[in-house]
Amino acid sequence: MARKIVVTSGKGGVGKTTVCANLGVYLSRLGFRVCMMDVDIGLNNLDVVMGLEKQVIFDITDVVSGKCRVRQALVQDFSYPSLYLLPSSHSYSSSKIIGEHIKNITDIIEHSFDYILLDCPAGVEAGFHRAVYPADEAIVVVTPHLSSLRDADKVLSILSSYHIENKYLVINRMRGDLLLSGEMLNIESIVKAMNIPLIGVIPEDDDVGKMSSDGRILTDTESARAFTLLSENIHNGSKKIFDCTYKYRGILGYFKRSIKRRV
Ligand SMILES: Nc1ncnc2c1ncn2[C@@H]1O[C@H](COP(=O)(O)OP(=O)(O)OP(=O)(O)O)[C@@H](O)[C@H]1O
Ligand SMILES: [Mg+2]
Repeated sequence: MARKIVVTSGKGGVGKTTVCANLGVYLSRLGFRVCMMDVDIGLNNLDVVMGLEKQVIFDITDVVSGKCRVRQALVQDFSYPSLYLLPSSHSYSSSKIIGEHIKNITDIIEHSFDYILLDCPAGVEAGFHRAVYPADEAIVVVTPHLSSLRDADKVLSILSSYHIENKYLVINRMRGDLLLSGEMLNIESIVKAMNIPLIGVIPEDDDVGKMSSDGRILTDTESARAFTLLSENIHNGSKKIFDCTYKYRGILGYFKRSIKRRV
């Protein structure tokens, strides 16, 4: 039976969809059957980020309205054959879809997958409830900024009223150079403020989400290494955290830091 994990944050634009897409790819690379569900209804993103938008025939709203069966709406990612996407729509009155509808869908497919990843919209309104309701675990994505931490804290207090067994923290867009110079909130203080287990740190990386010519996500980048560790931690409970500062250490690192400052 699939683990159902919602990727949420409260604040918009912190990297929920990026984390969801990469986790989907890296878990499927580990050999798991993964379904990513885009529950950001009305603002479809995951199909675009995954480069699958041209393959979309039906979407989640067609499933809910009974126009098609779940399996007809699932899009297989041929670059990663055990990875599927249930796309969202870009035009629908999302208020007609409630958490129970999404749960009915996860109930139907949960025996066919090892992981169901739910990409949550920003905010804590109806869309948040829809995405969180069917989940039994949550990844809370934050960036090292106070506004993000404040919203995530709100999300964590709301999550306590749901049946979420495990909550994990992912810190996204961490800059190793600013960490070393003390100009960015450090990992320890973020973990202390959030008070949930840290499961991944993803560096700020211009290559995030970039695809190679065959449609595969680039695997030799810093963020790729961080997402690999995150997927392993999710799956086997290890606690290997990517060190964003390593390339800024030593004399060579010092020059890299000063160059980065000037660009
Ligand atoms: N680690 C990173 N390094 C560089 N850019 C990143 C990183 N993570 C995310 N981004 C970029 O930040 C932008 C927002 O990311 P994303 O869409 O994943 O956020 P989101 O939380 O899903 O947003 P929304 O709340 O609107 O759904 C995207 O352009 C994405 O490529
Ligand atoms: Mg998103």
